[in-house]
Amino acid sequence: MCGIVAATAQRDVSEILISGLHALEYRGYDSAGIALQHDGRLTRVRTQGKVRDLEKQAGRQSVPGFCGIAHTRWATHGVPNTENAHPHLSHDEIALVHNGIIENHQALRGELAAAGYDFKSDTDTEVVVHLVHHLMAGDRSLFDAVREAVGKLEGSFGIALVCSREPGVVVGARCGNPIVLGIGFNEHFLASDIHALLAVTNRFVHLDEGDVAEIRVDGYRIIDRDGETVERSVREADLSADAMQRGRYRHFMQKEIFEQPAAVAETLEGRIGADHVLPNIFGVGSDEVLRRVRQVHIVACGTSYHAGLVARYQLEQLAGIPCLAEVASEYRYRDPVVPEDALFVVVSQSGETADTLAALRHARESGYLATLAICNVPESSIVREADLVLMTRAGPEIGVASTKAFTTQLVALQLLVLELAQLGGRIEPDQLREWVADLNRLPDVMRQALTLDEAIERLAGHFVEKHHALFLGRGSHYPIAMEGALKLKEISYIHAEAYPAGELKHGPLALVDHDMPVVAVAPNNSLLQKLISNIEEVRARGGEMFVIADARAGASLNERHGEIVELETGGALLAPVVLTVPLQLLAYHVAVLRGTDVDQPRNLAKSVTVE
Ligand code: G6P
Repeated sequence: MCGIVAATAQRDVSEILISGLHALEYRGYDSAGIALQHDGRLTRVRTQGKVRDLEKQAGRQSVPGFCGIAHTRWATHGVPNTENAHPHLSHDEIALVHNGIIENHQALRGELAAAGYDFKSDTDTEVVVHLVHHLMAGDRSLFDAVREAVGKLEGSFGIALVCSREPGVVVGARCGNPIVLGIGFNEHFLASDIHALLAVTNRFVHLDEGDVAEIRVDGYRIIDRDGETVERSVREADLSADAMQRGRYRHFMQKEIFEQPAAVAETLEGRIGADHVLPNIFGVGSDEVLRRVRQVHIVACGTSYHAGLVARYQLEQLAGIPCLAEVASEYRYRDPVVPEDALFVVVSQSGETADTLAALRHARESGYLATLAICNVPESSIVREADLVLMTRAGPEIGVASTKAFTTQLVALQLLVLELAQLGGRIEPDQLREWVADLNRLPDVMRQALTLDEAIERLAGHFVEKHHALFLGRGSHYPIAMEGALKLKEISYIHAEAYPAGELKHGPLALVDHDMPVVAVAPNNSLLQKLISNIEEVRARGGEMFVIADARAGASLNERHGEIVELETGGALLAPVVLTVPLQLLAYHVAVLRGTDVDQPRNLAKSVTVE
């Protein structure tokens, strides 16, 4: 969703704001804008398009200023054009940037229009800036007006504002959408996430829900939702701005695919010994809670949901624990029947996905034994609100199409599977030792899988001209086929669907011809012969088959079955993780050949903080 950066300093902040927007552009990228305060005036530059367009335009107009706000947008209300781009102004005195949705914007618009305010955009955001202007009548400060305005707004939002009458002051508020405050030396910042500010500070305060903050050059203050002045703890981030660079790679997605062995190794570090899962890795006292678990519900969105689906198969198969996996946007609006001793698990890269967060809140009121978050962003809302937490340590993921976050989620969920099996005495020590040893080998097996890059690049040529593709898998590899299809459609815009291979004959077979490439995911397991029968069904109808197969499964396949790519998968536990890698590479190379915007595919956003 949208990204916000704001700064006040004793130097020109325009470059800080623009480079902050570059770091946040993964959140949304249909338009961008900046407003700077100088000589008692506000100067605003906005553009439809990307931050680089804004940078050029701001450079041409040479807009300096020691205090300002900036925004990169992912449109919710109003098409992506310059008029709807942020910052929005009221009477050229107040400028505002906003991330989120104001649900009562229509009612407020009516009231403000009646009071004489003139609306220039189709956004829900513009009501906020006029409302604050309205509430600043007389001698009220921007801070007090924002505090009052926040009480009148419904929905979820993070905002930042400047006012021409208050030099060097930026006011921000967090109500549902995160805002962090960055502390520099005689300069202060606000942003949607810390990535925007790593180039200028590593000291952050994470605002709580309902907080309103004011930053100045020489300090800051925070007032909580009850109107009390509060001190929030200052944390040092151990990330550096380098982690946000593309390095020698052509795209962030490519870099992130190749970072997977290291990311997986980090996620395992300090969590497993030679033959068992280490105690309390899900938080202090977590073993006591997990020992009681009899049932698991996993809820997530997008790629994270696919990780949950894989875990569902593995929990039932390897640990004998019944499990449901469901998308958050459905779960949050139903009345779940919660069995006794059920654990609720949310999986989220960002920790801010609106539906997943709402599902977690819903679950907290529904009588689960405990809630557990598997997440990649420390201090995110989901991490703060869950009882137990396991951080994936993938590092910042910038490419909108999730790759290393997914494989580290799979690994984190496998730790949960083994932990529940271990604590509940549901697994023989020899079997546990074998699986833990497999996990320890995983980074190496993934490294080998990445050596297929060139072979997959050649395969990608077969997909470039196609409009549709079908992905097939069985068991825990059906969700892997779903993830392969999702990757392809997200970044190459080829329509792709996944089917459990056994369902092929119940519909999709009608679509199969030489124009519809079919990809099958073939681990070496008890379902292999069934999958091969499905592959034969496709070939018998003239379908073009591409089989991503475990090396041992490859012995049962030949050129009659289509193009075969073989790799070492490391056995039952690891295979879903390892077989994901060629599918990511396939989507990546097809997108590159088609010339799409790989890291920022159209209409999508990395962190979906609106419903
Ligand atoms: C968006 C992203 C996906 C991601 C999904 C869930 O759709 O583009 O890559 O899987 O949100 O995000 P989360 O941060 O909760 O994992």
